[in-house]
Amino acid sequence: MKIAGVRGMSDLLPGDASRWQQMERTAREVFALYGYREVRTPAVEHAALFARGVGETTDIVRKEMYVFEDKGEETLALRPEGTAGAVRAYIEHGCHVEGPQKWFYAGPMFRRERPQKGRYRQFHQIGCECFGVAEPGIDVEQIAMLHDYLGRLCVKAELRLNSVGDGQCRPPYLDDLRAFLAARKDSLCPDCNERAEKNPLRVLDCKVDSCQPVLSGAPSLIDRLCAGCREHFDAVKGGLDAMGVRYRIDARLVRGLDYYVRTAYEFSSDALGAQSAVAGGGRYDGLVEALGGPPTPAIGFALGEERLALILAAGGRSPPDERPEVFLIAADAQGAREAPLRALALRQAGVACELDLRFGKLARQFRQAERVRARFAVVLGGDELASGRAKVKNLDTREETPVALADLLARFSR
Ligand code: HAM
Repeated sequence: MKIAGVRGMSDLLPGDASRWQQMERTAREVFALYGYREVRTPAVEHAALFARGVGETTDIVRKEMYVFEDKGEETLALRPEGTAGAVRAYIEHGCHVEGPQKWFYAGPMFRRERPQKGRYRQFHQIGCECFGVAEPGIDVEQIAMLHDYLGRLCVKAELRLNSVGDGQCRPPYLDDLRAFLAARKDSLCPDCNERAEKNPLRVLDCKVDSCQPVLSGAPSLIDRLCAGCREHFDAVKGGLDAMGVRYRIDARLVRGLDYYVRTAYEFSSDALGAQSAVAGGGRYDGLVEALGGPPTPAIGFALGEERLALILAAGGRSPPDERPEVFLIAADAQGAREAPLRALALRQAGVACELDLRFGKLARQFRQAERVRARFAVVLGGDELASGRAKVKNLDTREETPVALADLLARFSR
């Protein structure tokens, strides 16, 4: 009996892997320029971390987490996102003593969502978190860095920016919003009504057509920010303007996680359809303290690698080429003995070299060389070894040029 893969969880095969390597390599390069250093935290954490970190009332915690009892000893969860685990590690290792920290991570996350284009149950995020800087300059730098990263991959994405206020201006606003929603509950969908009490901000994010006209009249937090949040928001906008990063203010942008204060943002692309956000993040100044650490301002984002790969593929940009430079072909038994030794020398010199270790007929070896899209083929046999000369065949142009075997390494190494 065949056993299929789990719904919403995909395989990444060699044909697509180079695209992913490019996304991750570029992230490492760009984020390092801005001082971010890699961390790796476990894919499994105590479920309580996410309940307290991401928020009890969020869809992620209420409906989408893979939670399990570990032999009746502990309640664990597959991580639905990376921030809560990063914060746990930051606290557990006392990292605050080292001053501001810039972290980056990449890895699988798990949410039991209904699978569709751009939405999976196992997906991969590349994320960044900065701890210890309350000033708006870090918001600007981090958003500009993500903009820089997407630009290097030639991805066009729209930046939407909002401020979701803080503990001072948000509670009175939420009271008003609740009252507004309660007065219109008959015109709102069941989902909105369910959220209206527990997590009213999320109602603003409802995509149901009939709710849109009602919600367009809802009070907006951005008009009621306290002086501190207003000043912060103005500074973020001014900083982005100065750096030439374009954005659109979206007063209805609320994020699906509860920890945000002040800055919230998303990059989205038309290439993605309904699940348009390729990256999202914001400030979460209270989270470190809420999870038992010292008061620590923080800001971060994560981008979805599957969604980024979809955008790159839709843009028609082919992934970086991974062709072997040389394919060694054995003409006879003597060649078959020699070829692996020559391959070793080439590889040690940094030249990507392949050979068909089944050897066999010349035609089959050439077919394999074409299949792996090698640039050059070199046939080795008793004759070549006796004369010390072989032919290098350019597999793109079919052109053949002679080479002395003694010069083979020099011919291909750069
Ligand atoms: P998030 O908005 O939930 O934020 O996820 C970030 C990105 O992950 C999304 O923009 C999307 O590209 C991708 N993503 C989310 N869910 C799925 C899914 N089911 N399938 C495919 N891709 C998905 C966070 O996770 C926060 N931890 C970001 C953050 C870091 N905020 C502060 N620091």
